[in-house]
Amino acid sequence: MRTPRSAGLRRLVMGAGILVAAGTVSSSVEAQELRDQYHQAPRDTVSQEVYDGWKQFNLNCARCHGEDVLGTTIAPHLIISLKPEGPINTKEAFIQVVCAGRPDKGMPAWCPLGMDPGTIEKIYAYVKSRSDGKMSPGRPARKG
Ligand code: HEC
Repeated sequence: MRTPRSAGLRRLVMGAGILVAAGTVSSSVEAQELRDQYHQAPRDTVSQEVYDGWKQFNLNCARCHGEDVLGTTIAPHLIISLKPEGPINTKEAFIQVVCAGRPDKGMPAWCPLGMDPGTIEKIYAYVKSRSDGKMSPGRPARKG
């Protein structure tokens, strides 16, 4: 014969079991979401140049300027800098500042670090198309 006390205990144990099960489900959903962020289907199909620029930007620049050029609190928001009314509104100005940097202000000088001008041009093509609103955030696909 069950006492009310042991029934209460059983409910408690069952409840804990459900909680544990729910925890497992939500953490596996989270893991799936994290995997999906990396393996997300590309949204834009871009030239090889822009694709290379996307990769180089995210490898070299994103830690300060933000992944997908979305900005951070420590460096200028390049989507704004490259707008027609922004301070870096030509390809030449972009190449100049990226090559020489502003080392005293925390912007590394990329040419002395070994980045070739071709790579800077590719990064420009990518950042410009983000600034012009021609590309969404995320990994693009390559044309052809
Ligand atoms: C270690 C952090 C850091 C990294 C990495 C970095 N930058 Fe910067 N960048 C800065 C900071 C800080 C500034 C602003 C300097 C200042 O105050 O004038 C800046 C400024 C700039 C500017 C001028 C923006 C403006 O509005 O005047 C451009 C363009 C730029 N960075 C491009 C790049 C590119 C392209 C890369 C990758 C190749 C890169 N940066 C990597 C920190 C960084």
